[in-house]
Amino acid sequence: MRTILLNPGPVTLSARVRAALTRPDLCHREDEFATLQDGLRRKLLAVEDLDPARWAAVLLTGSGTAAVEAMLVSCVPADGRVLVIENGVYGERMQRICAAYGIDHARVHGGWGEAVDLDAVRTALAGGPYTHVAVVHHETTTGRLNDLAALGAVCRDAGARLLVDGVSSFGAETVAFDRWGLDACAATANKCLHGVPGTAFVIVRREALAAAPSRGVYLDLADYLARQDAHGTPFTQSVQTFYALDEALDEFFEAGGRAARQALFTARMRRIRDRLEQLGVRGILPVAECSCVLHAFELPAGRSYAALHDALKARGFIIYAGQGALSEQVFRISAMGDIGEEDLARLEAALGEILA
Ligand SMILES: Cc1ncc(COP(=O)(O)O)c(C=O)c1O
Repeated sequence: MRTILLNPGPVTLSARVRAALTRPDLCHREDEFATLQDGLRRKLLAVEDLDPARWAAVLLTGSGTAAVEAMLVSCVPADGRVLVIENGVYGERMQRICAAYGIDHARVHGGWGEAVDLDAVRTALAGGPYTHVAVVHHETTTGRLNDLAALGAVCRDAGARLLVDGVSSFGAETVAFDRWGLDACAATANKCLHGVPGTAFVIVRREALAAAPSRGVYLDLADYLARQDAHGTPFTQSVQTFYALDEALDEFFEAGGRAARQALFTARMRRIRDRLEQLGVRGILPVAECSCVLHAFELPAGRSYAALHDALKARGFIIYAGQGALSEQVFRISAMGDIGEEDLARLEAALGEILA
């Protein structure tokens, strides 16, 4: 029996992606590596059909947080100021990154699960100036998909550009880089794109790095950009995870690209949510406010998360706990990864056995 990961990354790998991990050993200073890296950078831009003259994908070896941190420390000029939007763990993490690096910032704090308060953002921006607004697209804490079209319009009026944590949305949800006024979006290989953990990336507007300050060494995007444009890399990259992402992107485009992945996840989530609702388990947010990637559900009365998790694990499924104060109130299920029709049918049956 295959174990299916329903946690929000890493995901259940396809056989193709797993096999790519065993391609021949490769030195990161050889031409073959440069070709692999160049191809990956092209394919990542193609996910949202971005113009390589204006946008660049910068590849990093690290987890999603490395990409978010690199974006914040590299895109905010020395005299810049950031408004950080918080409505979950990952917005709050961006605030901690700004504080740790001494980046001038303020926050618009919302409760976990609440929609972004656009009036509060407008008021805060009016007290600016702010060069940037940092926001999580899909706040994985609760499954909420923040409305970046509306936020982008508010920011445009105030002359601020968006820095987006797209770690759990890029590759499935639309990220309208130009229309929403992004300077950058940070993401990772091992979520919606179905690669393995170890490769993260930032898609950045080239001009946004023109005034990049040097706040660090390992996470300096301008340095990576210059070296990757010259077909090199400042540091050793995780070659095998590059191979896996390359295969995962080929699979992604063969299956129809971003819109097809969004449709796939939406259909899977609908099926899982319908089954849970039949069993009396409710989502914590309306479907229209959720990402297609993950929904959070209320733990049924009298059930602990641990008991539900263990019963599903015994049947081959890994679900995910709520974070912080939500840990005994909600559980989360994600639709990412190589999940087949028979796996979904098995999941529906398992939920029935455990919850009926
Ligand atoms: C929205 C978001 N941002 C950042 C992260 C952090 O990613 P990582 O654990 O890969 O550092 C996650 C992880 O789930 C996430 O969902």
